[in-house]
Amino acid sequence: MTVEQSALFSPYKIRETTLPNRIVLAPMMQCKAIDGFASDWHFAHFSKFALGGFGTVMTEAIAVEPRGRITYGDLGLWSDEFIPDLKRITDFIHAQGALAAIQLAHAGRKACWQRPWEGNGPLTQADTVRGEAPWGIVGPSELAVGESYQTPHALSVSEIREIVKKFGQAAARANAAGFDIIEIHGAHGYLIASFLTPLVNNRQDGYGKDRAGRMRFALEVVAEIRANWPANKPLFFRVSSEDGGGEGGWGLEDSVVLGLELHKAGVDVVDCSSGGVRLSATLANQARGPGYQVPFADRIKHGGGVPTMAVGLILDGLQAETIVREGRADLIAIGRQAMFDPFWAHHAAQQLEADVHFERWDPSAGWWLDKRVGGLAMVGYDSTGKPKATTQANPP
Ligand SMILES: Cc1cc2nc3c(=O)[nH]c(=O)nc-3n(C[C@H](O)[C@H](O)[C@H](O)COP(=O)(O)O)c2cc1C
Repeated sequence: MTVEQSALFSPYKIRETTLPNRIVLAPMMQCKAIDGFASDWHFAHFSKFALGGFGTVMTEAIAVEPRGRITYGDLGLWSDEFIPDLKRITDFIHAQGALAAIQLAHAGRKACWQRPWEGNGPLTQADTVRGEAPWGIVGPSELAVGESYQTPHALSVSEIREIVKKFGQAAARANAAGFDIIEIHGAHGYLIASFLTPLVNNRQDGYGKDRAGRMRFALEVVAEIRANWPANKPLFFRVSSEDGGGEGGWGLEDSVVLGLELHKAGVDVVDCSSGGVRLSATLANQARGPGYQVPFADRIKHGGGVPTMAVGLILDGLQAETIVREGRADLIAIGRQAMFDPFWAHHAAQQLEADVHFERWDPSAGWWLDKRVGGLAMVGYDSTGKPKATTQANPP
């Protein structure tokens, strides 16, 4: 397959922005920020995916206000002070020919947690020894995540409007920091998702009651961001296609309706995740096979008429190519497999034989890897350095 024949490596134009290929780094919290600031860690972390061929490198969830952080280690964008460090990262991503996307978030009632490796539960007074005292959390209703969790303050209408404004202000800062795409984090039980699901939102005012009321906060955030974000730049929205709370919760057909409304309001791509209404959306507490969320992306794309991004155990290039080729999703987000292999996109191109001469790599590596191919072939090895399946050759 040539690169021109690959669906996965075909460019994708949204508004005036062209994604160089269909591969997006999924948002993944690092919990490495100090007071919300990005450091050399974040520069090195995001840069490696741009070098690894990801057409779009998306940040982790970045909080629009301090109280909306999941952990003390979350990145923030509630002040202009955060812009220069993020700009350094987007400049490098752009220099590699990739696009930079930012996920804007508010953790709501799932804020104020320990870092995963420090307990992965709610912060308690015991965490103050590390200088990480619990703070007050907010949500649509006074419903805690679980027994040992803090009960959130139910936001008043004026407090909701304040948070909506903060999303808009963060969007303007994201533009100043050079981002090409914003993704709104509307999934995994965080603030926007908690407004959507009847399991958590029992409000009786205009932000609850029925599905239209529960979608209102999400749609107001979209409108506010659109008002503060250039019309030629794409806007994505990550949804929990099903909230993971079982009967009576937010389901796939609700997401189809939401997809339609989001698209009308100016969202270009719905990123189709799932779960998290109570605990983590990602931990391996249930059996999941490769591409387990692709049916959600497929249904929301075809039912809601909105382009979608598929995510969740998409493991190799062939699997990703097939999803795009079959029209089940327009974009592919790679999460943990990218942690395992930051050069995933380049390796996918090798697997698909869409980059036989390593032309997608920076020439400082690609030139050498291409020259290596002939020698490897003579001893029965393929271009990736693995013995060819049919040969008995020994390592040189
Ligand atoms: C360490 C880690 C951090 C994550 N942080 C975020 C996040 O900030 N925002 C988000 O929407 N999803 C987050 N996720 C979920 C991923 O974006 C992705 O949806 C999930 O890992 C499934 O995709 P995968 O199987 O390719 O990893 C995180 C996942 C992991 C493993």
